Amino acid sequence: MISPLTTRGFLLLIGGVFLFTWFGLVVLPWIYLGHLAPIQDEGSSDITPWDASGAAHQGEHIYAADGCVYCHTQQVRPANSGADIIRGWGTAKDESDDKAPPIIRRTYPRDYIWQGQVFLGNSREGADLSNVAERFTDAASLYRYLYDPYILNPHSSMPAYRFLFIERKISGLPSQDALALTGDDAPPAGYEIVPSDEARSLVAYLLSLKKNYHLPDEKGPVPAPPDKS
Ligand code: HEC
Repeated sequence: MISPLTTRGFLLLIGGVFLFTWFGLVVLPWIYLGHLAPIQDEGSSDITPWDASGAAHQGEHIYAADGCVYCHTQQVRPANSGADIIRGWGTAKDESDDKAPPIIRRTYPRDYIWQGQVFLGNSREGADLSNVAERFTDAASLYRYLYDPYILNPHSSMPAYRFLFIERKISGLPSQDALALTGDDAPPAGYEIVPSDEARSLVAYLLSLKKNYHLPDEKGPVPAPPDKS
C-alpha cells in the first residue's frame, strides 16, 4: 500500500522539482554557454561578432513592444532540422572579403552575445530576420516596408506599422528622410511622412541584423578559453 505523503515529504518533493528545473534551465546553460566571448582577430583589434550601436539597442525595445517576435524568428536552424538554409535565411555576403563566396550558415549562441534581449521567436509566420539587413540594405526601404508591407505582397499578414510614422506639414524643404510614397500611400499635397524616433531605432536595430562573418563554432563546439586569473 502506498503511504500518504507527509507535509515534510511534500515540501521535499516540491523543493526537489524546483532544484532539478533550476539546474536544467540555469546551471547547465551557464556551464555550456556562460564562457562565450567574442573572437579577437590575431592581427588587429577587430572582434567578431561586434556590438551594435546604441540606437540599435534602443530598437530592441521597440521590436519587443510591437510584437515582431510573434511572427518572426531570429534563429537559423541547421540544414538537417528545417528549411531555413534553403529559404536563404542564413545567407550573407562575407564582410571580410568581397570576392569570397557568400556565408551560408545556421546561427550559434555566440551570435547573440551582445544582444540585451534575444528574440529567438517560435513562429515563422514571416521570414527569419537573423540576416534581414542583407535583404534590406538601407533605412529608406525598411521605413517604406514597415509603413506599407502590402507593396511587396498585397495579401501579407504583416500589419502596417503606420503609428511609427508622423505626418506633418512641409515647412521649407522636404525632410531628407521623408518616405517616398506614391498612389494611395502618398500624403496630401504640402505634407510629408517621416519616421518617428521609435521607427528610427527599430530600423537601426533591423540594419544591425546580419551574420556576415564566420565563427569557429561552425567547425564544432569551441572549448572555453583558459582561465587567466
Ligand atoms: C502578424 C504577423 C507579423 C507581425 C506581428 C510582424 N510581421 Fe513582419 N512579416 C510578416 C509576414 C507574413 C512577412 C512576409 C511578407 C509577406 O507576407 O510576403 C513579414 C515580412 C517582414 C519583413 C521582410 C522580411 C524579408 O526579408 O522578406 C520585415 C523586414 C518584417 N516583416 C519586419 C517586421 C517587424 C520589424 C515587425 C514588428 C514591428 C514585424 N515584422 C511584425 C508577419 C508579421
